[in-house]
Amino acid sequence: MEKYFKKKLISKDEIKKSIKNLASKINKKYKGEEIVAIGLLKGAFIFIADIIRELDLDLSVEFLVVKSYENSKSSGKPKIVLDIKESIFNKKIIIFEDIADTGRTLKAVKDYLEYKGASDVKIATLLSKPSEREVDVDIEWNLFNIENDFVVGYGLDYNENFRNLKDIMVLSEYAIRKFKKPL
Ligand code: IMP
Ligand code: MG
Repeated sequence: MEKYFKKKLISKDEIKKSIKNLASKINKKYKGEEIVAIGLLKGAFIFIADIIRELDLDLSVEFLVVKSYENSKSSGKPKIVLDIKESIFNKKIIIFEDIADTGRTLKAVKDYLEYKGASDVKIATLLSKPSEREVDVDIEWNLFNIENDFVVGYGLDYNENFRNLKDIMVLSEYAIRKFKKPL
């Protein structure tokens, strides 16, 4: 396993601490209100599972599946491949996403939810690569800014591998080659 990673970037304890901190901000901001927490699958499944258990609010949970990545490059055109069945008309929404890279996924999802009539859409990301941003999108809460390294773990994958790691790791060149999908 070791040769698959360049280094540990963020430990599970740091993640846990930041999530508690973010949850307490959200608890204060939305006190007495109802929210819909929307997780973008698959990457955000662990993040949303951990944070909602720290939220002391009336909330429901929904998921959207958006796809744009093959190998380690964004295709640039995010597609919604699994939609929400419940109406989100007039609802206050928080989108939970694993990572903001170009920003295209979040921009597309936010526009879509607003188009469906949500009254308010905020975004919370676990990670962000500010140097990679190509479209402008407001991220209300981001836990960690990172460099342009390809990272895995805590829900994030490389061609479906490594989602189960507890910490966030930088992938090695060796692993990038080994787990590359044939074109
Ligand atoms: P964006 O649309 O370019 O912002 O891409 C966001 C999506 O790309 C995220 O939901 C991730 O699935 C994926 N992504 C971007 N960078 C990484 C990374 O370093 N590791 C794993 N997935 C990534
Ligand atoms: Mg994703």
